[in-house]
Amino acid sequence: MQISPSILSADFANLQTELDAISNADWAHVDVMDNHFVPNLTLGLPVVESLLKVSPIPLDCHLMITDPDRWAPGYAEAGAQSVTFHVEAARDPRSLARTLRSAGARAGMAIKPGTPWKPYEDLLPDLDMVLVMTVEPGFGGQSFMADQLPKVREVREAVRRHGGDVWVQVDGGVSASTIEQCAEAGADVFVAGSAVYGAEVAAVAVDELRSLATA
Ligand code: DX5
Ligand code: ZN
Repeated sequence: MQISPSILSADFANLQTELDAISNADWAHVDVMDNHFVPNLTLGLPVVESLLKVSPIPLDCHLMITDPDRWAPGYAEAGAQSVTFHVEAARDPRSLARTLRSAGARAGMAIKPGTPWKPYEDLLPDLDMVLVMTVEPGFGGQSFMADQLPKVREVREAVRRHGGDVWVQVDGGVSASTIEQCAEAGADVFVAGSAVYGAEVAAVAVDELRSLATA
């Protein structure tokens, strides 16, 4: 069970301090948005390169961008330890996943709430993680979509059938009140933005979430 706090809810003027505040987490989740694939703009490769120099924990980059086939490999080449692209935006998801792996990153594929899982199941051998979005991508602080839990179950079952070490990540509205349902459905990597950075002490929230997921 791994916790990946989203720095989207952190103070963008003090990212190094905000990363240090979650050094007990497994990953730092970095939401890259291009104002095109989603209606919001956050940060890009130059900022990720700077974060990689100072982060006490590995970076889990979630790319909500158009044309990931062109842009995602750069994040892996820069040293991001996990790079996740959206299948809705990718032209050739299998070849992109292979490129990410050969650049040394874990290859993740994200699916939006309205996107079915089934058509992509045969990509599993080339993936290290499937990210099931539990909100519409674009903003932090939205309500958890419990209707995505059956999809989490479906992905987990497919991973079991295919074998291999593929992680199942949930992102969006994950908090102390929703994380147990996610774990029960088969998720093993949990992104939480507002639930961590909105807490009084971020590191305490990380530990609480991990123990709820493990219970
Ligand atoms: C939403 C992002 C999430 C976001 C989650 O598009 O992908 O990572 O930061 O924020 P919370 O945990 O507040 O829903
Ligand atoms: Zn995200």
